[in-house]
Amino acid sequence: MRADTSANGGAGPRAEARAAAGSAAVLPLPADEAHLWSARPAFTEPARLARLRAMLTDEERARADRFRFLRDRRTGLVTRALVRITLSRYCDVPPARWRFRTNEHGRPEIASPASSLRFNVSHTEGLVVCLVSRGRELGVDAESLERDRRWLDLADRYFAPAEARALREAPAARRRLRFLEYWTLKESYVKARGRGLTLPLSGFWFDLPALPRDRIGIRFTPSVEDDPARWQFSLESLGPSHLVATAIERAGATRVRVRHYEAEALGGRG
Ligand SMILES: CC(C)(COP(=O)(O)OP(=O)(O)OC[C@H]1O[C@@H](n2cnc3c(N)ncnc32)[C@H](O)[C@@H]1OP(=O)(O)O)[C@@H](O)C(=O)NCCC(=O)NCCS
Repeated sequence: MRADTSANGGAGPRAEARAAAGSAAVLPLPADEAHLWSARPAFTEPARLARLRAMLTDEERARADRFRFLRDRRTGLVTRALVRITLSRYCDVPPARWRFRTNEHGRPEIASPASSLRFNVSHTEGLVVCLVSRGRELGVDAESLERDRRWLDLADRYFAPAEARALREAPAARRRLRFLEYWTLKESYVKARGRGLTLPLSGFWFDLPALPRDRIGIRFTPSVEDDPARWQFSLESLGPSHLVATAIERAGATRVRVRHYEAEALGGRG
């Protein structure tokens, strides 16, 4: 997500948010921008982890603790903390004060305090990302490039025929990456719609242009009621081992600018 890279954005004015975010001012989030925050949940310092745990509700802590493996418990913790710290960068609300609800398909949304902020998160091995906007529908998906998948089977099963065909026609050496590109884009769109897998995955497909990647197009079959002009997409490598796709509701003809920030207090490289 290298549309723009600015390390270390500002935090909310309260001490708790400042300490967590490691900086001082409320960060502006204009309507024509979306901000992508990334965290690397590999750190293990007990004091840091305890500080993050303290931001969560009892229910969130219990949910994070239910994962069997330590690595997943840490990722669960960092995910909840990243959402809270990210939202608190844009207003005078301490991270621990946010309350969330889920829509009927499981998408977390802000319940209180009332806010125009919208967010979506994704986690995968070694990376957690949170995309935030003011009032725009959005979705984000991160995938590890090292993850092994039975990708041709999955493409036949889930992708639209045009995507499965494009994949088979791609040079053999490019196929795996191309599969992951389609996969992350499809997930980002599904997540932006907030409907989970009730949205037929074969009911929409992507045109992936050669570089630059800011002209990625989407098309729909009648089974998915939507307008291609409503969305913009991005697809970027984040470091050597991750791919991140975003789907963002457009601002008319203007392209929404995606800025990338690394959440230093959460293991971002800063
Ligand atoms: C749940 C789903 C929305 C994303 O799952 P995923 O890609 O495995 O996981 P990600 O890490 O990217 O996203 C998970 C986060 O999305 C959010 N989420 C959950 N349901 C959501 C929904 N309906 N809409 C948007 N976001 C949702 C949550 O914040 C969740 O994290 P949390 O439970 O820790 O809060 C859904 O798309 C899914 O189950 N996908 C299964 C995979 C699949 O079949 N993909 C085919 C692609 S071709």
